[in-house]
Amino acid sequence: MKQDFLNALERAQQEKNMSIDEMMILLSAQEGEETGALFSLANKIRHKYVGEEVHLRGLLEISNYCTRNCLYCGLRLDNQPLVRYRMTEEEIIDTAYRAEHHGFKTIVLQSGEDPYYSTDMLEKMIAKIKKETDLVVTLSLGEKDREDYKRFREAGANRYLLKHEIMNPLIFKKLKPDSLWRERIQCIAWLRELGYEVGSGCMVGLPGQSLSDLAQDILFMKRMNVDMVGIGPFIPHAQTPLKDEKMGDLTLTLKAVAVSRIVLKDINMPATTAIETIHPEGRKRALEAGANVLMPNISPVENRKHYEIYPNKAALDLEEAKKLINALGRKVGQGHGNRMKRN
Ligand code: 5AD
Ligand code: SF4
Repeated sequence: MKQDFLNALERAQQEKNMSIDEMMILLSAQEGEETGALFSLANKIRHKYVGEEVHLRGLLEISNYCTRNCLYCGLRLDNQPLVRYRMTEEEIIDTAYRAEHHGFKTIVLQSGEDPYYSTDMLEKMIAKIKKETDLVVTLSLGEKDREDYKRFREAGANRYLLKHEIMNPLIFKKLKPDSLWRERIQCIAWLRELGYEVGSGCMVGLPGQSLSDLAQDILFMKRMNVDMVGIGPFIPHAQTPLKDEKMGDLTLTLKAVAVSRIVLKDINMPATTAIETIHPEGRKRALEAGANVLMPNISPVENRKHYEIYPNKAALDLEEAKKLINALGRKVGQGHGNRMKRN
């Protein structure tokens, strides 16, 4: 192992604040002994701060309509051939009941940015789910006005996922031509102010993204004190402008997961579907490199193939998730799986 790697790892082990340079050194760990040592440290820190429980979140993809045109995403407005669907309020509420019946403690309502669901409608749905179940409600519906976030929060929503995607403002501008970096970061700040548990995250291997960008992504999440971090590799989709770009690398993605655990410590972090999509043991490896959450898909089966953010999206059902957790000698989370803040 190289000396500068060993020095950075030693400081990480002593739980010192990591500088950008040190994070970059860890992110450059050579595959083999160095990555082994990095993942093992992340796993130890995961154990120390969030324990052996792996929390399950039921992911319900309520609509694949989107008004935006992110260059990387298969749900983008200009992907005309994509078959679009949208669940009704009754279907959504019904699926929430069933999720609770199957033992889920959290439901995640996710969609493209779909204005069909008005603030009134969403507010009503959230209030009903909160009134009639004991579920934690996580929303992942994109950028909204502060007032909307506030109303959802008052209706009982507990958590919100809004990945910052990439901190490098030039790449952000290019890949999200109809979003403003400043506004997206503002949304994350509002969500914090409103008392949500906030999730952010980024993609690994976006065209033009450097190791320093990736370290900045992690540092940003640390600065924002986010509660949840979702990291996945970029996967090119044939019906997007990035179709000919290279896919994000598995090892680099796992390194980003590990460094996020080392830097952010007590956060909740899923082993994402995107990691599993690029490698058949991706989720398992992520769980062994710092991750502590799985998000089984609870969307109606007929919709799943149409929620094609990227191609060949890996599936995960509840039984498979439990099997994986048991095979790793970990425990299925019994409580709500809120962030366990240590300080
Ligand atoms: N590859 C990997 N992840 C993607 N996402 C969107 N497009 C891709 C892709 N091609 C992720 C983004 C976004 C969420 C909808 O999915 O991080 O937040
Ligand atoms: Fe829409 Fe989100 Fe995909 Fe962008 S990443 S096109 S906002 S679903």
